[in-house]
Amino acid sequence: MPDQPKRQRPRGGRRQPPGEENQLFRHIVSSMRNGVLAVHRDGTLALMNDEAYRIFSLTARPDDIGQPFSEVLRTRADIVRVLTAAFELKHLPNRAELRLKELDRVIGYTLSLVRDDAADTVGAVMFFKDLTRVEQLEERERLRNRLASLGEMAAGIAHELKNPLAGIEVMAGLLRRHVSDKLDAQSILADIISEAKLANAIVVEMLEFVRPIRLEIEPMAITDVLHQAVTLAESKTSRGGVSVTVTVPEGLPSIEADDHRLCQVFTNLIANAFEALDGKGAISITAVLSAMEPDPAFAGTPQEPTPILVVDVADNGPGVPAELSDRIFDPFFTTKTKGTGLGLGIVRKIVDAHDGRIDLSSSPENGTRFRVTLPVSSATALFK
Ligand SMILES: Nc1ncnc2c1ncn2[C@@H]1O[C@H](COP(=O)(O)OP(=O)(O)OP(=O)(O)O)[C@@H](O)[C@H]1O
Ligand SMILES: [Mg+2]
Repeated sequence: MPDQPKRQRPRGGRRQPPGEENQLFRHIVSSMRNGVLAVHRDGTLALMNDEAYRIFSLTARPDDIGQPFSEVLRTRADIVRVLTAAFELKHLPNRAELRLKELDRVIGYTLSLVRDDAADTVGAVMFFKDLTRVEQLEERERLRNRLASLGEMAAGIAHELKNPLAGIEVMAGLLRRHVSDKLDAQSILADIISEAKLANAIVVEMLEFVRPIRLEIEPMAITDVLHQAVTLAESKTSRGGVSVTVTVPEGLPSIEADDHRLCQVFTNLIANAFEALDGKGAISITAVLSAMEPDPAFAGTPQEPTPILVVDVADNGPGVPAELSDRIFDPFFTTKTKGTGLGLGIVRKIVDAHDGRIDLSSSPENGTRFRVTLPVSSATALFK
C-alpha cells in the first residue's frame, strides 16, 4: 500500500498561497470575540489576541510573542498556573471557570493541546470569555429571589397585623367614651390610638413594598421629576442649612418611564441624604445622557451602544460604612431610630421595574453617591 500522508487537505475550494492563508488565520484570531492565548511547548508565548489583552487588562508590547508566557503574564499568576498545568494534566478542562482575584473578574475557559501532523504536542491553547457581567446578573437574580421571599414573609405578617391593629384603635376609641371624666386615662388612650395609627402606617408601607409594581410608562422629563423630588423630600424630613443643586444639561431627551414612581425613587434618595447630613452640608443631583457599550460577554448579533440616562444623587455626609453597604437595600435594614428601612428597598424595586440599575459608592471622605442608570429607548432619544 502506498504511503499515505498523515493528514489530507480537504478537497475542493480555492487553496490560498501560504502567506495569504497565514494572514487570514491571524485576522480570524485577532477578530475573535473570545480571548485566545497559545503557548509553545517550550513555554514561550505563541499568540495572544486583543480580547485576551483586554480581559487580562494588559497592554500589548511588540516583543511579547516569543517571550516566556510566565514573564508576559507575571501579574496574572492564576493564568500562568493553568497554562503550566496544561502539559501535565491527563484531562484538560473543557468548560472551567477561573476567578482572577487581582482583577475581580471571572473567566470561563477551554484548554486544548496543540498537536502537529505527527501528533506530537507542540503547544497549548486557551479560549476564554469574560463572565463577570453574567456573574453580576446572576448575583442580582439571587438578590431578587432573596427579596422576594423576604417580601412574602413581610406580606404575611402585615396581613396578620392589620386586623388586630384596627381592633386596638377601635376599642381604645370606645374605652375613651367610657372614661370621659378621667383626664389621665383619656391621654393614655390618645397615645394608644396614635401608636396604633403609626404601626398601621408601617404596615401600609410594607404592603406597598411587597406588592408587585405596575408601571404607567409615558415620555417624561427628568428635570421636573428631580425638582419635585427635592420639594417632597423637604416636606418628609428637615433640610436645615443643606444646599441642594440640580444640574441637568439642556436638551436632554425625554425618557419612557413612570414619573410618579421615579419621583418616589429620588425623593427617598434625597430624604436619606438630608437625614445623613443632619442640617449641614451639600447635595448635588446631576443627570447626564451616556451610552452603555455592548457587552462583550454576550456574543451573537452585533450590538450598538445603548443610550442611558445616568442620575447621581451625591451628598458630602458621613458615608455608608463599608461593612453595611451590602445590607442597606435589604428591607427593614435601618440605622435610624425612626426609620422603617424600606426606603432603599422600594427604590431598588422601582429602578429594577424600569430595567435600570442603582449603584452605591461611598467613603467617609467623599460622602455617598447613589447612581441610578435608566435605559433611554433610542426612539425617544431621536424624536425628543
Ligand atoms: N445618603 C446616605 N448616607 C449615609 N447612609 C445612608 C444614606 N442613604 C442610606 N443610608 C443608610 O442606609 C440605611 C437604609 O436606608 P433606607 O432608606 O432603606 O431606610 P431608612 O432611611 O433607614 O428608613 P426609611 O427610609 O424607611 O424611613 C439607612 O438607615 C442608612 O444607614
Ligand atoms: Mg430612607
